[in-house]
Amino acid sequence: MVMKKPWGGRFGQKTARVVEEFTESVSFDRRLWRYDIKGSIAHARMLARKGIISKQEADSIISGLKEIEREIQEGRFQWRRELEDVHMNIETALIEKIGPVGGKLHTARSRNDQVATDLRMYLRDETKEIAGLLRKLQRRFLTLAERHADTVMPGYTHLQRAQPVSLGYHLLAYVEMFQRDRERFQDYLKRLNRSPLGACALAGTTLPIDRAYTAKLLGFEGVIENTIDAVSDRDFVIEFLSASSITMMHLSRLAEEFILWSTTEFSFLELPDAFCTGSSIMPQKKNPDVLELIRGKTGRLYGSLINLLTVMKALPLTYNRDMQEDKVPLFDTVDTLKESLQILTEMLPRVRFNKKKMEETASEGYTLATDLAEYLVRKGVPFREAHETVGRIVRYAIEKNLPLEALTLDELKSFSSLIEPDIYDSIDPKKAITSRTSPEEVMRQIRRWKAAL
Ligand code: ARG
Repeated sequence: MVMKKPWGGRFGQKTARVVEEFTESVSFDRRLWRYDIKGSIAHARMLARKGIISKQEADSIISGLKEIEREIQEGRFQWRRELEDVHMNIETALIEKIGPVGGKLHTARSRNDQVATDLRMYLRDETKEIAGLLRKLQRRFLTLAERHADTVMPGYTHLQRAQPVSLGYHLLAYVEMFQRDRERFQDYLKRLNRSPLGACALAGTTLPIDRAYTAKLLGFEGVIENTIDAVSDRDFVIEFLSASSITMMHLSRLAEEFILWSTTEFSFLELPDAFCTGSSIMPQKKNPDVLELIRGKTGRLYGSLINLLTVMKALPLTYNRDMQEDKVPLFDTVDTLKESLQILTEMLPRVRFNKKKMEETASEGYTLATDLAEYLVRKGVPFREAHETVGRIVRYAIEKNLPLEALTLDELKSFSSLIEPDIYDSIDPKKAITSRTSPEEVMRQIRRWKAAL
């Protein structure tokens, strides 16, 4: 059946097949149907309230829309590519269902304000869901941090062993990152949550609409007053993609750390079998694919951000069809980010940390050298001088192939007469973390987080 286009009046020729294929967006923007219908119902209510259509007309439009809603929900709705997008599919179905009165729905509205409204409502829901997923992940990290408050591990800079720290403390760093990620999403929500509806194509309408009313019905905090701005910008999508990219960057660093830690070389942790895959040729392999894919998919998210920034950068105001290209990268980002958060949340409690290996490694590589220097500082030595002295002690120990704590008191004293037997307390890794990122300090931070999450 050849469908009549809602905008067909001005056209003498039927749209070329390739053009229909090329311009359609319903194959992906149908995902917005719930919001499209919600927006239309609010719009119809407003039209009736303002006397632009009658109460009966609004009722018939609304019940038609609700029927379409059920059909879509139950998978009975027939999406038609030749009707371009989600908006025209639903509107056409409405007219087919309730007759010409359905044609009154698009009064004082354009697809330009419609799509901007749908997208904002969609993003509002998705953002809240993502913030919830982040919170869940934070809680999982917190549980692990609590379990490992007094597990000692080497902390790194430049991926070289630096100083012993508590594993729990290290894990709490991720709780902090995810907190800022959540705050970024929350912060942009207040800019997102304004209604473009009623801006129509670009300059509003001559009809006496009530934009504040539809805004209120749809849960917006107000309207975007400038109608040109309302239909022109996609900065809210860009903000979402940007907050998502930053979050994914954090997930990727976590993935990278756990991949490293799971290697035979590190052996700091064992990943759950259920979250790894094998090799088709090397029987001994257990590969950290889930984590690798999280790290790899980060590239897709960055790509989506750059994609939309580029689409928008040279568009004259107001709406341009280029903007239809916002949806593919947006939906892909929403799906990828949610999936990554979910899978990490499931995997995390099943990761086994190798406490013994971490503790052994914590003091290897002279990670307590700073503690030794601070010991001298406490005895009144200027830090620079202490640094120099300990540097010489470390060189001596390396030459003798001994750890610091294996040097005798006489050997140590030969570098500084201030060194006394209590030095050995300062170079015991367990004791060393007690005086820096102590289990008590870790527990204090955990309690603070528990109250906050
Ligand atoms: N499918 C379009 C989009 O996603 C809807 C707006 C179309 N507006 C227009 N004037 N052709 O951007």
